[in-house]
Amino acid sequence: MKLWGGRFTKETSQLTDDFNSSIHFDHILYKYDIYGSIAHATMLGKQNIISNEEAALIVSGLKEILQDIEDDRVEFDVSAEDIHMNVEKLLIEKIGDTGKKLHTGRSRNDQVALDVRMYVKDKIIYIDQLLHELQEAIIKIAEGNIDTIMPGYTHLQKAQPITLAHHVLAYFEMFKRDRERLMDCYKRTNVLPLGAGALATTTYPLDRTYVASLLDFDGITMNSIDSVSDRDFSIEFMSAMSLIMMHLSRFSEEIIFWCSDEFRFVQLDDEYSTGSSIMPQKKNPDIAELVRGKTGRVYGNLLGLLTTMKGLPLAYNKDMQEDKESLFDSVNTLSMAIPIFTKMIDTMKINKENMYHSAGKGFTNATDAADWLVKNQVPFREAHAIIGKLVLYAIDKNKTLEELSLEEYKEVSSIFNETIYDSITLEACVNNRKVDGGPSRESVEKVIFINKNYLLNK
Ligand code: ARG
Repeated sequence: MKLWGGRFTKETSQLTDDFNSSIHFDHILYKYDIYGSIAHATMLGKQNIISNEEAALIVSGLKEILQDIEDDRVEFDVSAEDIHMNVEKLLIEKIGDTGKKLHTGRSRNDQVALDVRMYVKDKIIYIDQLLHELQEAIIKIAEGNIDTIMPGYTHLQKAQPITLAHHVLAYFEMFKRDRERLMDCYKRTNVLPLGAGALATTTYPLDRTYVASLLDFDGITMNSIDSVSDRDFSIEFMSAMSLIMMHLSRFSEEIIFWCSDEFRFVQLDDEYSTGSSIMPQKKNPDIAELVRGKTGRVYGNLLGLLTTMKGLPLAYNKDMQEDKESLFDSVNTLSMAIPIFTKMIDTMKINKENMYHSAGKGFTNATDAADWLVKNQVPFREAHAIIGKLVLYAIDKNKTLEELSLEEYKEVSSIFNETIYDSITLEACVNNRKVDGGPSRESVEKVIFINKNYLLNK
C-alpha cells in the first residue's frame, strides 16, 4: 500500500512505478531529507503539534535511518517513489505508528524544495572551494612567470607582447567573478521554503523561523505558492556553473594549442595527458579537451531545466521532478573537471624560450615603435602610417623591426634616431606599460599582491 494509497482501489502498475519514481537519482538527497525531517519534527514537538516524546522518538528513528543508509544497510523501494517517502516508510517500519506523525503540516512539495536548496547550498560551498584551489594554482604560475614574455593575441594574430603572468591572471579575474556569482546565488538559495505545505501552508501553528535557524537558513520564503514552484536558485546555480565551464573551456582551448608543435609553449605532465592507440609518438591533451567537451553538457543541463520550467503554471507540477538529474550531473561534472584542471596546470612545464621567441616575431613591438614617434612629436595617426610602411619594408626584407638599420629607419622618416632601439625591445614593450591592470612587472606585482590577499580572505 502506498503512503498516499487511501483513495485508490488498485495498485499502480509497474510501468507507472518505474516511470514515476525518482528514487534511483534522488536517493543522494537522503542526508538533507533526514536533517530537514529532524528539524521539522523538533519544531512540531516544540509547538505541541505532536508531543515531545513523539518528536524525540521520531528524531532518534531518523538518526538511526541516516546511519543505516550510511552503513549501506538500506535498500530503497521503487514503489515508495522518492527519497521523501522512502525515508518516511523506513521510519514507520522502525518506530511504528508514531512515524506516521512526521508528515504533519508538511507536503512533499515544500519538502523537496527544502532538500534541493540544502543540496545546492552545500555544493555551492564545495565548488567555491575548488575554484579557490584553482586560483591558487594560477597565482603560483603568475608568480613564477612575471618576466615570461609571450605574444598577446587578438583575432589569434600576434598583437603585443605580454607576460604569461598577465595572461593567466586574466583567468584569475574570471574565476573571481564566478565565485561572486556563486555567493550571490547562495544568498537567494538560503531561504527556507518548508512550511509552504503543498502550496497554501497549513492550519497547524508551525514556527518556520525556528526551523530556519535549526537548518542554518538565513530566513524564510514569503509566499507559499512561490516557495514550492520556484527553481530559480537551481537555474542560477546551473548558470553560474555554465560560466565556470565556459572559462575553463577557453583556458583549455588555449592549453590545447599551446601544446601543439606549432606553438610548443607548454608541455603537459605525463600524469595529465594520454597517448594514442596507433601513433606511438602522440601525447594528447585529453584532459583539456574533455573539460572543453563537457562544457556542452553543462550548458545542456541549464537549457533543459529552463525549458522544463518555462510553461509551468503555479504551483508544483510533477515536471519539476526533472530538475534533479541535470543539476546533479552539472555538479558532478564540475566536481571532477575543476580539480583535474587545477592539477593539469599546476604540473605543466612552461617553455619560456619558445614563448619569448614567438613574441619576437610578428612585429608585436610595432605599436611601441609608433609610440616612440608620438613621444617625438609625430601625431599618432601619422606615426601609425610610418610604422606601417616600415613593417611592410621589413616583411619584404625578412627582418624584424630591431634588425633594421638606422639608415633604413631614416629612409622612411628622418625623425628616427638611435633611441628607437631601446624602446622596442620586448622587455621595454612589456615594462613600459605601467598602467594599472597592465602587463608590466610593476602592475602585475601589484595585482598578485591584491589577489593573494583576496585568497587569504576568501
Ligand atoms: N519526487 C518529487 C520531486 O522530486 C517530490 C515531490 C512530489 N510531490 C508530489 N505532489 N507528487 O519533485
